[in-house]
Amino acid sequence: MASGNASSKQRVIIASNRLPLSVKENNGTYETTPSSGGLVSALRGLQAADYLWLGWPGIEVNDKSARESVNASLAKENAAAVWLDQKLATDHYNGFSNAILWPSLHYQSGVVMDDNAWEAYQRVNEIFADEVSNKAKDGDLIWVHDYHLFLLPRLLRKRLQAQNKRCPIGFSLHTPFTVDDFWRGVPVHDQLLEGVLGSDIIGFHTDEYKKNFLGACDTLLDGTRVENDQIHYDNRVVETGKFIVGIDYRKFADASGDHEVLSRIKELETLYKDKQVIIGVDRMDYTKGLPEKLDGFRIFLEEHPDMANKVVLIQIAVPSREDVKEYQDLEAQVSKLVGQISGKHATPHHSPLLYIHRSVSFAELAALYSISDACLLTSRRDGMNLVASEYVACQEARQGVLVLSEFTGAATFLKPGSLLFNPSNTHSLSDALYKALTMDKEERRRNYEELRNFVTTNTSAKWTETFLGELGRLKN
Ligand code: ADP
Ligand code: G6P
Repeated sequence: MASGNASSKQRVIIASNRLPLSVKENNGTYETTPSSGGLVSALRGLQAADYLWLGWPGIEVNDKSARESVNASLAKENAAAVWLDQKLATDHYNGFSNAILWPSLHYQSGVVMDDNAWEAYQRVNEIFADEVSNKAKDGDLIWVHDYHLFLLPRLLRKRLQAQNKRCPIGFSLHTPFTVDDFWRGVPVHDQLLEGVLGSDIIGFHTDEYKKNFLGACDTLLDGTRVENDQIHYDNRVVETGKFIVGIDYRKFADASGDHEVLSRIKELETLYKDKQVIIGVDRMDYTKGLPEKLDGFRIFLEEHPDMANKVVLIQIAVPSREDVKEYQDLEAQVSKLVGQISGKHATPHHSPLLYIHRSVSFAELAALYSISDACLLTSRRDGMNLVASEYVACQEARQGVLVLSEFTGAATFLKPGSLLFNPSNTHSLSDALYKALTMDKEERRRNYEELRNFVTTNTSAKWTETFLGELGRLKN
């Protein structure tokens, strides 16, 4: 696919379910906190001179002055709220997006259709279509993100045509796209495909996800013709492409120059001066393979008892989607496993496992990445996994080892330089961890160079620039 240049004159309208700030209620007052997750992290690299980011603030706020204060905070981030009532938002977000689409996209079968949630999903996509089309001006670039808004491109196209506005529409998927036979398990699979095919261009993180999507359109949607990376449908041609998502490398690599981060690094280095530290950072999500990680670590401790008092796994599990039953069950399972490992291996002097089930500040996150000898990521499936890249960016001095599940999108690109394993095989996980902690300096250096080259080349700024360049080119 030819590369283009986004014109700095073209305004960009971003539409995503999650905004860079999320609103939470605390004893009757509303607070905004930075959102976590790969989508928000990737879009922080947006360098378009002029953009507006529309999304759901995470909660219903009816009080007028509270709404105004939320709107003011969002405006500082070029963002604006698409307000939804709580029941509708819950049915769209938890009921359909997270209970039906999320598992299906991550190669799980057996989801149960919920007509009420599907109604809400359609309704929320309609509301977004109204908001985005009303805000859009002729010539704006529109960039829709992720599975919560699969129907939006088609709905938008109709509205924009009626309003006589010519705005190219791009769509980026931040999750895997499963194989057609699994996608068929979602009863409304064809309506979802038709929705997203309202885009001019659709971006995926890896070739595998793109291929699966093309395959699903080819086999499941009547009237489509797939040729090379193009889908001919409804008398239009929809482009698809792989766009490698990344991070703001310098933000993480330069973090140790910040006074707060540096003093925290020193404290942690003193605290763990005789230990090797393994870091894990994941949303509390069943796709992240946390039980597998804990099980693999338990086996590692049993197979290498001499190392139990010399290593510590610091696992941050950021609370996520806590209203969904599967996530509640996961939390209970993880807490139990943590208790079992600590109960068996902790001594009054040392515990090999430190479990943090809450969000941490950027300074704390950067310090923890920096002082760790290895980063352990065990996803059963993962669209990309930006934590892997963030760890690499914080390791210029230490040159630590990345121990990475082969089922992350990141593994496709970081294979040279990281230790890959299958998370379902807890022994291979334990072996990879042992290899990481005993690797000699020269091998670490060589591996680190490979990782660093990739992460410095494929930044979030490059991702946004490349995608918007393609989208801008389609207008001409
Ligand atoms: P996912 O998108 O599935 O959560 P990723 O690994 O791609 O997985 O992205 C997770 C992102 O969330 C990373 O950029 C990470 O830095 C960020 N993150 C983790 N903890 C926090 C936190 N406490 N506050 C804000 N962002 C966080
Ligand atoms: C993944 C999804 C994003 C989502 C993020 C955090 O990265 O692809 O769309 O924003 O997880 O999840 P949340 O449900 O909190 O938005």
